[in-house]
Amino acid sequence: MEIKVELTKTPKAKPQDETKLGFGHIFTDHMFAMNYDTGKGWHDARIVPYGEISLSPAAMCLHYGQEIFEGLKAYRRADGKIQLFRPDENYKRLNNSARRMVIPEIDEEFMIEATKKLVSIEKDWVPHTDGAALYIRPFIFATDPYVGVRPADHYLFLIILSPSGAYYSTGLNPVKIYVENNYVRAVRGGTGFAKTAANYAISLKGQEEAHEQDYEQVLWLDGVERKYIEEVGSMNIFFVIDGEVITPELQGSVLPGITRKSALEVCKSKGIKATERRITIQEVADAYDAGKLDEVFGTGTAAVISPVGHLKWGDKIMTINNNEIGPISQMLYDTMTGIQWGKIEDTFGWTTPIE
Ligand code: COI
Repeated sequence: MEIKVELTKTPKAKPQDETKLGFGHIFTDHMFAMNYDTGKGWHDARIVPYGEISLSPAAMCLHYGQEIFEGLKAYRRADGKIQLFRPDENYKRLNNSARRMVIPEIDEEFMIEATKKLVSIEKDWVPHTDGAALYIRPFIFATDPYVGVRPADHYLFLIILSPSGAYYSTGLNPVKIYVENNYVRAVRGGTGFAKTAANYAISLKGQEEAHEQDYEQVLWLDGVERKYIEEVGSMNIFFVIDGEVITPELQGSVLPGITRKSALEVCKSKGIKATERRITIQEVADAYDAGKLDEVFGTGTAAVISPVGHLKWGDKIMTINNNEIGPISQMLYDTMTGIQWGKIEDTFGWTTPIE
């Protein structure tokens, strides 16, 4: 499918200080858009000036949340070239989310091509500063003006771009996480594995209560027995217990993170034992009491590798590795960011150049 291009006549000034980008609140000059209508399929692919969209107040996405999204980044390499990290994985996951949310799928190769074309037009927006990148947010939502509950017949697919720094204001300093005992994020058979807006809306109440106690994020437990660890919402979670790297297995309620998958592959390539299995919060607390909880860290596109310095479960506060980044977290951070920013050789074949 041809992608039409309409360039803006009023480009915005780029951020002056790339060390103060924050996350997700600055947007570039252009966006990609494409429409779907039942009977016609996906059509009208275009890159247009970034701007407001008009929607009917009855648009179905606003009422029943039929929406899915992705998050990936374009990185400026040490040699000045720009690259994406595993975009095929993001678009494969977008189609998995689409199937769960009854949204029509899109050809994955085409979405990669659209992303490359948009980033190439916006290449001057890709930050030059260490640790900063161009965050890419593809998303699809239902637009039919109808307030009955059924899958929509009309959708809009957009890709917007945001030059961004660290997701957490703490940067690479350890985050404080609170184990959520009251609310749940997902149950098996639900939508936990899909990247859909509702999973994030449902997390806000726990996050708000965590903030009131000076914790940044919550760690979700399984929705049935409330004892197995799932994920953080903005990232997957890993524990290093007695030298072994452990992350909860994917059984339907955990997001299959691409940084999660890559971190497991990096560990295995370095001969570090890395296991996906069910793990209870009690096992983590017991390992802590036995002096065997070496490290805790989160993984995510936005979060990269985020060490966890404090973990609070009820009245128990666990301080991990003296609230400092541990050696495996540091190795993973250095390897992942080294590959992403083109500072070390990509022996895994994970990067895709932007021509
Ligand atoms: C990402 O890591 O890209 C995500 O989509 C998580 C979001 C909370 C920023």
